[in-house]
Amino acid sequence: MCGIIGYVGQKNSVPFIIDGLKKLEYRGYDSAGISILQENGTLSTVRAVGKVAELEKAALLSSPKGCTGIGHTRWATHGKPSEENSHPHTDCSGEIVVVHNGIIENYLVLRAKLESLGHRFQSETDTEVIAHLIEENLKHIRTGKQEERLLKAVQKTNKDIAGAFAYGVLWARTPGVLIGVKNQSPLVVGLGQNENFLASDVPAFLQHTNKVLFLEEGEIVILRPGKVTVLDKMGQERKAKSIKISWDRQTAQKGGYAHFMLKEIYDQPQAIEDTLRTARADFGKILGLDTAALRGLQNIHIIACGTAYHAGLVGKYYIEQFAGIPVSVDLASEYKYRTVPHKTKTLAIAISQSGETADTIGAVKKAKELGFRTLAICNVLGSSLTRICDSTFFTHCGPEISVASTKAFTSQMTAMYALAISLGLANGNLSKAAFDKLYRELMRLSKAMSETVKMEYTVRHLTRKIYKAERFIFLGRHANFPIALEGALKLKEVSYRSAEGFAAGEIKHGPISIIDKGTPVFMLMPQGSLFEKMLSACQECRARGAFVVAVTTPGGEEQIKQVVDKVILVPSVSEFLQPILNIVPLQFLAYWIAKRLGCDIDQPRNLAKSVTVE
Ligand code: G6P
Repeated sequence: MCGIIGYVGQKNSVPFIIDGLKKLEYRGYDSAGISILQENGTLSTVRAVGKVAELEKAALLSSPKGCTGIGHTRWATHGKPSEENSHPHTDCSGEIVVVHNGIIENYLVLRAKLESLGHRFQSETDTEVIAHLIEENLKHIRTGKQEERLLKAVQKTNKDIAGAFAYGVLWARTPGVLIGVKNQSPLVVGLGQNENFLASDVPAFLQHTNKVLFLEEGEIVILRPGKVTVLDKMGQERKAKSIKISWDRQTAQKGGYAHFMLKEIYDQPQAIEDTLRTARADFGKILGLDTAALRGLQNIHIIACGTAYHAGLVGKYYIEQFAGIPVSVDLASEYKYRTVPHKTKTLAIAISQSGETADTIGAVKKAKELGFRTLAICNVLGSSLTRICDSTFFTHCGPEISVASTKAFTSQMTAMYALAISLGLANGNLSKAAFDKLYRELMRLSKAMSETVKMEYTVRHLTRKIYKAERFIFLGRHANFPIALEGALKLKEVSYRSAEGFAAGEIKHGPISIIDKGTPVFMLMPQGSLFEKMLSACQECRARGAFVVAVTTPGGEEQIKQVVDKVILVPSVSEFLQPILNIVPLQFLAYWIAKRLGCDIDQPRNLAKSVTVE
């Protein structure tokens, strides 16, 4: 977790760093800090508990100024959120400052060793050992220019520390030089005009440049105002090519909406359109497998966490229906530690918005060890997941800033559908005519999504009546069962209400006991083969006093109205695409309940968008 930003240039670095930290708050926001190398050669460090706004106030008071600086927004792993534990951390001399994301696994051993050498620690963090190690290593590198000495000390430090980490370091004796290290945690470089940026993610500097340099694992980058040098893990200079990010600057901003979550719900038609553009351009190749390999596929394992896991559950219905291949879906954190029978001709599909979720990356590593081919469904170009997987199908949603995932979820399901039908065509499970029909339906999805997002007012109005309820229930069957799980997760994440999703057929086997008078129960019940069964579930819940809301498609409203309290109509698409639209009212529901309850919607308590620790 945590967000890192660094600036070297010719202007005062403070506004760049504070602004970058605000863009990175989705990575953690329990405390923040900056260190600025001032013209007089001293480092000025300001840290504050709470959000970046608190840091900004503190920085205004002490008003540091300088053209080189680093900043950090924290999500605590080692040591409670406090000013002492906030980054940047410093060595004994106060001349070296470090910001870090990830975990230094051997920090206790290193700390004891450094303490025995006389180093004094000020925080409980693992990060602080990096600053002291650099200081210690510098003592033993006596020759060369200061810049060369610093680089050597960083290289030696990297050999000493173990774990997954990315960090940035400044030394008061090397003005205009910022060093970054990437090892299994995200770190990217933004290339500007006589100014360069180091950050955990692109939105941190997107306002200033869209020229991005992605670093490989184990690399070190040296940033100066007019030059960026990348050293590979052998210490050799690598001619790194920059990529122009096509995300426009506005996409990374709220665009007039009160919250990113709301904006991102409305982004969904475009996100689906953009995701399908890749599929349209090269439908046959999206799996990254040749036809023979595709035909031979016998098993598929889907691995993911949180919302992405729910997209995986929907994907199972798609792949088994259209490609006829058995699919297992695992939470990545479970897959890693269970016995997975080794079977040849297995494809592991990892779904992740960020591509940085440690559990998912760990599970992919296991799949690779087992000899499985790996495919990522991911939204972030250059992310760790896309680097370790054999191939990637990008969901082109643009940056998703709200911690609660919305547009990434619907794009992930869209991608799963595209994969499933292309697999089915490749392995002969679908005729060309059947594929063409499904393909045409898929290409109309974005338009149907544009209609669906118009329902905000209906849901908003409904929430006035139910937002104070203690507990919410979501029920669905078949591919709408994962939508019930996701609806409950969304509500829990942003409103802190107790919410549970169940397979509708299971309600009578236990969960019905938690329904009492007025409990809001959301039924995902589009017209189709399971509609009648859902009607029975409505009656069972209504008989226990529940306030039943049907999320359905046009056609049977009159029949439903007799057994429910409220009907929400979603535009009708084909049976397997319907779940992708059905989640929308539940996203608005979560948003409006959280808003009425006064919750911090884009940054819910205790959560972080990208969980880069196990
Ligand atoms: C975190 C977030 C969830 C997200 C999950 C997986 O727990 O709070 O909203 O669904 O990570 O993230 P990923 O980036 O792998 O999709």
